[in-house]
Amino acid sequence: MTIPDHLAAQPTLRTARLMLSQLGPDHLDAVMAGLADEDAMRLTGTRTSFTREQVGAHLAGLPGAEDRADFAITGPDGAYLGEVVLNELEEDDRSMNYRIALVGPSLRGHGIGTEAGRAVVAWAFDVVGLHRISLEVYAFNPAAQRSYEKIGFVVEGRAREVLRYEDEWIDAVTMSMLETDPRQP
Ligand SMILES: CC(C)(COP(=O)(O)OP(=O)(O)OC[C@H]1O[C@@H](n2cnc3c(N)ncnc32)[C@H](O)[C@@H]1OP(=O)(O)O)[C@@H](O)C(=O)NCCC(=O)NCCS
Repeated sequence: MTIPDHLAAQPTLRTARLMLSQLGPDHLDAVMAGLADEDAMRLTGTRTSFTREQVGAHLAGLPGAEDRADFAITGPDGAYLGEVVLNELEEDDRSMNYRIALVGPSLRGHGIGTEAGRAVVAWAFDVVGLHRISLEVYAFNPAAQRSYEKIGFVVEGRAREVLRYEDEWIDAVTMSMLETDPRQP
């Protein structure tokens, strides 16, 4: 199977506490609620406002997509906890970009994002066949950087003053993980 074949046939992943399933139109209400989480929007540098119609159209295009994998994270009771995404496929280089956001501050700091991330990178390297996964994290978000390091991402540099936030320039830390990098348990 090619990388696009694997991405199109995105499976459900299970971890000790979580289920990661295809994000799609059924998650519209939950995703809209997540977009109202101002702290998550700040931490992810999201400044655009999306209408319900725009989000619905985006979600409708995700199942079966050959160039990305969007997972809804749900807990043991089936509650939607957030999303974790591989996008920006460069097929020849076997590389993709990674992003994640849990919904609401109360979910953070309990290892949920790290647990979800470990499952996604394991699938991406071991099944999809990616070579490299990269991401950027703003310097004002050390908790996310720590979570990424616990997964196995390595700091590779710093993009200076990429974000203007509350009259200050914010750097972004660039991180990546290669298929040959040690996985953190
Ligand atoms: C980023 C995110 C996915 C991480 O998932 P999580 O489940 O909260 O992460 P974890 O609980 O596994 O790990 C957080 C770590 O940060 C540490 N931490 C918390 N605040 C910190 C701070 N100010 N400085 C350094 N480390 C900090 C915690 O102690 C923990 O590390 P530990 O397990 O070694 O104690 C989640 O917090 C989230 O969705 N945040 C909002 C959106 C966001 O920031 N997305 C990423 C954009 S790049």
